[in-house]
Amino acid sequence: MASTRVGILTAGGDSPGLNAAIRGFGKTAIGHYGMELVGYRDGVTGLVLDRFEELDGRKLSGILTVGGTILGTSRDKVHKFPTEDGSADMVSRVVENYERAGLDALIMLGGGGTAKNAMRLVDAGLNVIHLPKTIDNDIAMTDTSFGFATAMEIATEAIDRVHSTAHSHHRIILTEVMGHRAGWLTLGAGIAGGADVILIPEIPYTVERVAETIRERTRRGSSFSVVAVAEGARDVADTADHEAARLLVKSARTPEAERAARAHLRHVEDTQREHTFRLARELESATGLEARVTILGYVQRGGSPSAADRVLATRLGAAAADLVKAKEFGVMVAARGDGAEPVPLREVAGKVKLVPPDHDWVLAARKVGTGLGD
Ligand code: F6P
Repeated sequence: MASTRVGILTAGGDSPGLNAAIRGFGKTAIGHYGMELVGYRDGVTGLVLDRFEELDGRKLSGILTVGGTILGTSRDKVHKFPTEDGSADMVSRVVENYERAGLDALIMLGGGGTAKNAMRLVDAGLNVIHLPKTIDNDIAMTDTSFGFATAMEIATEAIDRVHSTAHSHHRIILTEVMGHRAGWLTLGAGIAGGADVILIPEIPYTVERVAETIRERTRRGSSFSVVAVAEGARDVADTADHEAARLLVKSARTPEAERAARAHLRHVEDTQREHTFRLARELESATGLEARVTILGYVQRGGSPSAADRVLATRLGAAAADLVKAKEFGVMVAARGDGAEPVPLREVAGKVKLVPPDHDWVLAARKVGTGLGD
């Protein structure tokens, strides 16, 4: 009997733990179950352009601790793949390539965008399993995703480090943390790093409330403050503008209306892009303290995964191989406590896990006196 042949790819923004998950899946699939494995290059791009390589034990060796992804990645979408004249739906091309490669299953490692791509391929009849990775921790129906723990460590260390320089210079230092539209990374690192103020997208702030927290600290003798700002955090007015622009896109009924609404949304996002710098200027005039900005950016995604992420990625990868063996497809392998559980992709795709404003982390931050800007 021919052995089971599986394709694997990594898509979306890279994140620590991708290689650990490829290895976890690959070693279980090949070593434990005797399957064959091929790796697609650069996410969906490799699937569409049929770029893949055979993966064997040798290629999976020595990658557990390595950052990034040995397969490369991209943010390409299967239904809007870039072409010379714009974009095209490549779902049927992918189905042909999958069949020609003799695949029995496809493993897609990625975040929310990848879950949507995976769903489209499930609808086209392919046997797909999704593994949740993102530093943003915003994938629905899973406790967590690999990459998050590592990024939280990196951001925490950065917040720790800016404390001493903020203290020495009697400054406000705003540290901007990634996370897209979710505040998990900023909230976690802000709590762990003891930020004085934490600003997340789920809790719109007012400059006055942030300034008041800082002035109160000064009155009590601490003439410096560290503010952890999520890249997606906005003040109340900007949040309302952004929400209205997003609603316009959602409610557009014709292609022209959608184009115009998207252009308006881009404009709103462009005007809000430098929001952390603007907040720094506003805080300077409201508090009389000097303010500086540190954007953590891509250092949060780079480098070796933490021990927690290596364990998570390995166990989710191994669980995905078990699911291929059991022929259970159309699912994401969710992290549940110490275990892993298949969840129908239909319940994941198109959803985002945001920080509930009454989440335990938020309540704990408030109890220890951290300002949340509201
Ligand atoms: O989703 C991970 C993430 O790092 C987000 O936190 C951030 O908003 C985004 O990717 C950056 O994307 P890109 O790599 O395309 O600049």
